[in-house]
Amino acid sequence: MIVTIDGVAASGKSSVSAGVAQALGVPYVSSGLLYRAATLLGLEAGTDLGDARALLTCLEAAPPRLEPLASGNRVWQGGRDLTPDLHSSRVDSGVSVVAALPGVRAWVDAQLRALPQPFVAEGRDMGTAVFPQAGAKFYLTASPRVRAERRASERPEEVDAIEAALVERDRLDTLQSVPAEDAQVIDTGGLSLQGVIDAVLAGLPR
Ligand code: C5P
Repeated sequence: MIVTIDGVAASGKSSVSAGVAQALGVPYVSSGLLYRAATLLGLEAGTDLGDARALLTCLEAAPPRLEPLASGNRVWQGGRDLTPDLHSSRVDSGVSVVAALPGVRAWVDAQLRALPQPFVAEGRDMGTAVFPQAGAKFYLTASPRVRAERRASERPEEVDAIEAALVERDRLDTLQSVPAEDAQVIDTGGLSLQGVIDAVLAGLPR
């Protein structure tokens, strides 16, 4: 069975998915990393991030590959581990432009659908566009302030700047961030990481 965990930026999707996957004994798949990899490669090649044709040429010439390790997903391009470079502020602010390109979305979706199942898939549209047949779907939310405070430990910027960037990314991601009609929505604001993991596990079909 596939479990999907979608949600807004910095809502805790990756950590929650890792915990749920560990409890179920399956891998988790972090779809945002592939959008981030496409963005990084575009930035490094100096391409216009809105130029789908140029980006797809980059992606097809040396395709990044997602490795869904239980200890944390990694993205490889040949022998290069792209993972440490995927969470910079530069990638954060370019990724929504890249993710809005239908050709890039189709490329990411094909990578995800080719992975061996079962797994927990996290992102924005896992329960809607990519795995609509998933056995259980969740959608995580939290206020921008709570999310910015969580991110502040992982980014050099001040919390106000992080919050503003998150709100802007939410706006740009609106189209692909609609909860599935059959998703269980969890507000993670007042919950610990383990609390959210437990809420997801409690919501799985028996
Ligand atoms: O999940 P994360 O915040 O790392 O995702 C980075 C970006 O990738 C999002 O802001 C969004 O633009 C894009 N994304 C997407 N669809 C997904 C996962 C991520 O459009 N399923």
